[in-house]
Parts: sequence; C-alpha cells; structure tokens
Amino acid sequence: MKKEVKIRPFWYSDVWLFPKLITIVTTLDAEGRVNAAPYSHIMQYDVMAKNARLIVGFRQDSHSYQNICATKEFVVNCPGADYLDDMMETARFYPEGVNELEHTRFTMIPSLHVKPPSIQECPQIAECVADEIIPLEKSTGIVIGRIKALVFDEELIDMDREARIRAMNLPIGLGDEDRQDYFHTTLGQITRHRLGEPPGSHVGGEVQLSMPWDADALQTLMSIPAMVRKMVTDQTEQFCRARGDGKVTLARFTEHSAEQGMTPELLERFQRKKPA
Ligand SMILES: Cc1cc2nc3c(=O)[nH]c(=O)nc-3n(C[C@H](O)[C@H](O)[C@H](O)COP(=O)(O)O)c2cc1C
Repeated sequence: MKKEVKIRPFWYSDVWLFPKLITIVTTLDAEGRVNAAPYSHIMQYDVMAKNARLIVGFRQDSHSYQNICATKEFVVNCPGADYLDDMMETARFYPEGVNELEHTRFTMIPSLHVKPPSIQECPQIAECVADEIIPLEKSTGIVIGRIKALVFDEELIDMDREARIRAMNLPIGLGDEDRQDYFHTTLGQITRHRLGEPPGSHVGGEVQLSMPWDADALQTLMSIPAMVRKMVTDQTEQFCRARGDGKVTLARFTEHSAEQGMTPELLERFQRKKPA
C-alpha cells in the first residue's frame, strides 16, 4: 500500500530523500570580506559549452545570497569526505563578516577568474559569475551562474572515471532533520551500467533530412548517439540554411559542432565507442 504524505515546508529535505552533492560556496561581501557556507541545492542548468551554467538555490537572507546579489561572483568548491566536519563548521550561523574558513582546516587560494577565493583542499571547483538572480516569493533565491572555469586537482584530470570517483571521494548529502542533524554517506561500492541500444532502436535513431548531406557529414552524424541525432540534424540544417548553403558538408557540420563546443576530438570519442 502507498500513502500520500502532506507537503510541508522543507519537504525536499525532511520528507523526500534526495541524495545531493555537497559543496561549499565562497563569496565576498561588498567590503571584500570572505564568506563560506555549504550548499547542496545545485545542479547543471545549461549543459552546452557555449553557455555553461549552473543553478544554485539559497535562503534569501543568507550571507552567501546577499553577497552574490552585491558582487555577482561565487565559487563552488566540492570537498572530499575527509572534510565533512570542516564543511559542517562552515554551516554554523556565524555573524556577518566572519570568514567561516578560518574555523576549519581549509586553506584559501586565489581563484583564476573571479575575486572570491577557492579552497585548496577541494579537488573540484567551479568559478562562477551570476547571470540571473530570481528571488522566488517567500522562498528560495535562485542564482543562475555562468561557469567561468572548472578547476580540478591536476592529477585527477586524466584519470579514468572510476579512479577519479575514488580519488575524489565526494560525500553525498542525504538531507537533514529539523535543520540540526545532517545525514551524509560516503563512497561504497561503485556499479557501472552500460546503456546499450534497445531492440528496434535503429528506428528511433533514423533521421529525416530536409536537405542534401554529403557522405562524410552523414557518416559523422550517424556516429553520434541516436538520442541526440534528430536535434543535431535539425540544428545543423538550420545553421547551413542561415548561411545560404544548399547542402550540409562535413566542414559546415564540424563548424556548427565546434560552435556548440563539440570539438572534433569529442566527436571522435563517439565514433570510437564500442557497441554494448
Ligand atoms: C550539507 C548542507 C547543505 C546545505 N545546502 C543548502 C542549500 O542548498 N541552500 C540553502 O539555503 N542552505 C543550505 N544549507 C544551509 C546553509 O549552509 C546555512 O544556512 C548557512 O549558515 C548559510 O550561511 P551563509 O549565511 O554564510 O550563506 C546547507 C547546509 C548543509 C550543512
């Protein structure tokens, strides 16, 4: 039997189990003083490279939100599980103007493109500039941040995914009870699932062309994942038409892909993918 539960304030944490990323957002206030606090209401917003953005939800009277409204910049730092105690220290209600990092083992380092500092001990960092700020009525302040840089500990960058997941050892937030006790879990078993093509998927992957394509362009199109093929076809044809082309050539396909951040190396990765 299933039973409906009343939707109350803090439903997203008290009621609904929502495993989340743990981050520490660093900001500066209008006087240049550092602030740091944990934020988990965070997600990718625009996934393409041209306009890479993420979304973060803040209590509107938090120092972090007010600093972002004032200075427009913030850094999202992801600590490893060994730093959960320090992360929790930054969540305490210190008075305005206090740099919470000074009460932790964290070390501040200059960021590459924004003024708020980054945290040395965090292996994964996003430096952001607020693009849009949406104060929801009597609720969260939503900040859409344009990512100026994604910064990693150098040794992580070329690791394969599983080694990187283990090396970073990012904790997972499991919500809190009454804003007092916060629950987390740390990395256990890692499972891997290959998506594979379902029976009959060649039908879904078929594309309708509305103009001629040369053979090389078509071959490249067919090498990209079936689920995005239609979107890529439509966008590429639009791109060619806007330039007065009567045909999609590989050169135009590559030009359009590059504009979307799909470099030839990235496209080649799809071509090399082994069948499931
Ligand atoms: C793991 C964790 C995740 C949190 N995520 C959020 C969040 O996404 N949004 C939010 O408003 N508060 C969140 N909080 C609470 C804030 O960190 C807390 O209110 C903090 O004191 C705000 O500090 P500030 O006023 O310096 O910004 C979180 C706390 C913890 C411990």
